[in-house]
Amino acid sequence: MEIAPVKWENERLWIIDQTLLPAEYKIIPLDTLEAVVDAICTLRVRGAPAIGVCAAYGVLVPLKELKESRSSLDNARQCFFHALEVLAATRPTAYNLFWALARMKEVGVGRFQDVFDFWQALENAANRIYFEDVERCRKIGEYGADLVPDGGGVLTHCNAGALATSSYGTALSVLYAAKNQGKEFRVFADETRPLMQGARLTAWELASAQIDVTVICDSAAAYVMSKGWVNMVIVGADRIAANGDTANKIGTYSVAVNAHYHHIPFYVAAPFSTIDRSLLHGGLIPIEERSGAELGQGFDRPVVAKDAKVYNPAFDVTPHDLITGIITECGVLYPPFEESIRSALQTQVNCIKH
Ligand code: MRU
Repeated sequence: MEIAPVKWENERLWIIDQTLLPAEYKIIPLDTLEAVVDAICTLRVRGAPAIGVCAAYGVLVPLKELKESRSSLDNARQCFFHALEVLAATRPTAYNLFWALARMKEVGVGRFQDVFDFWQALENAANRIYFEDVERCRKIGEYGADLVPDGGGVLTHCNAGALATSSYGTALSVLYAAKNQGKEFRVFADETRPLMQGARLTAWELASAQIDVTVICDSAAAYVMSKGWVNMVIVGADRIAANGDTANKIGTYSVAVNAHYHHIPFYVAAPFSTIDRSLLHGGLIPIEERSGAELGQGFDRPVVAKDAKVYNPAFDVTPHDLITGIITECGVLYPPFEESIRSALQTQVNCIKH
């Protein structure tokens, strides 16, 4: 089954509403800028690369009406800058969001004859971002597949699958490619509190692909490792700093510490569009804090005592020295990451054509 979480069809933006999975598979249109912003903020569409692609197309959503009413170029450009601004304020940690909006801006500030010309250039740019992401993710799978232990166990956290990208995924792309090579392995999916991306989304994706998947609660990861059932950990990333420090879903850091203790290799799979060269280390990565209500609502009734405070960071940063390798669309990068990232960005960044 092909999973396409973000689609641009007949000049309309469509997404799979991921908040409904796995109970319901529903594709919904996003016909206003407000709907796009809401879908990103509420995680109907989620995962750093998918957020970036959705935002790129999201810029076009409010412009469509202006194109159809033959508005002035000035008007359209004003609307474009407004869209860039509100979309950039949705999810602060996901670097692909800012990367994609910067690419759209680069195109949008050019010279155009009229609103049609403007629209066409932006639509082409968003399509390029989409198709490049598909190709980046496919190549991540190709480069990472050899690392998957045949007959072994793999642990992953959150969802870095097709649902989180344009297609294939990042961490899960590696697993899909390994399966296509004929490898047999089992996957442990951390449930990923509080929004259960592992239990709801990763388990759904892997089971649909006939990959042996077992959901565990986040706090069972160390125990499962201690049993010798995990030979590799692989996760995605929301933002990677210049030295390899990696922000990913809250709990990833604990998984990395546990993997280190048990001598299990810990891989991050991410495209170059997730690497933020402007940040020297992970301490500078902005960490999204979400509403405490996300922790408090469980089992259809409140699960946190009424007067207790709740702290709900959505991401944490795994220090680079806990990371064995970063699987990218241009190959696997190894420590020292400061050097391998710099050199890869200088020499290989064009391995996916712009
Ligand atoms: O809050 P989410 O569900 O958007 O968080 C997603 C993750 O942390 C993913 O691991 C990351 O974006 C990489 S997706 C290829």
